[in-house]
Amino acid sequence: MAKKILVAYATRVGSTIEIAEAIAAVLQEWGVEVEVRSTHERLDIEHYDGVVLGSAIRMGHWLPEAVEFLQKHRHYLKTIPVAYFTACITMTEDTEENRETVLHYFDPVMQTVPEVRPISIGLFAGEIDTHKLGVMPRIAIKMIHAPIGDYRNWAKIRSWASVIAPQLMGEPEMLYP
Ligand SMILES: Cc1cc2nc3c(=O)[nH]c(=O)nc-3n(C[C@H](O)[C@H](O)[C@H](O)COP(=O)(O)O)c2cc1C
Repeated sequence: MAKKILVAYATRVGSTIEIAEAIAAVLQEWGVEVEVRSTHERLDIEHYDGVVLGSAIRMGHWLPEAVEFLQKHRHYLKTIPVAYFTACITMTEDTEENRETVLHYFDPVMQTVPEVRPISIGLFAGEIDTHKLGVMPRIAIKMIHAPIGDYRNWAKIRSWASVIAPQLMGEPEMLYP
């Protein structure tokens, strides 16, 4: 039977959904059944053989619903391959310093759900479109001097998805589709 993979996302204004969809499209090329779902949806988590979980970053943190998803499903998730990814603006410049900063965003996640050990963490630049933001977020991004625009690097996102694909399927010896 074909393996079934869940790509779950937490978003505020949508850019993380498109990253989740791009990851799912690559996983599908490997012959797996893939579902893309919001962390808000009610899911029968035990239907999945692997999970990719991604969240936007707001003020240095994964969105609370992503962490809640992990907490809720922790007992099952610790038994299957799980990968994390994040959409943020710090990764508009992929430097060692910025990667370290963004990896620290995961500290509270790892502390809250230490038993779920991700096989990989994808660190991706996201998008800031001021037209989609309310007044408070607009003020906040001005305060943190965030660059405005779409910085999602689709080649990098797809490349990461193809690296994690065999691991998610529990077939680490499969290097190529
Ligand atoms: C109010 C606000 C706060 C943000 N805080 C951070 C941050 O602390 N660090 C960071 O790297 N990116 C930060 N970002 C950038 C978002 O993580 C990025 O725009 C992401 O792509 C948004 O995802 P979404 O469109 O799925 O909501 C922030 C964006 C907004 C609007």
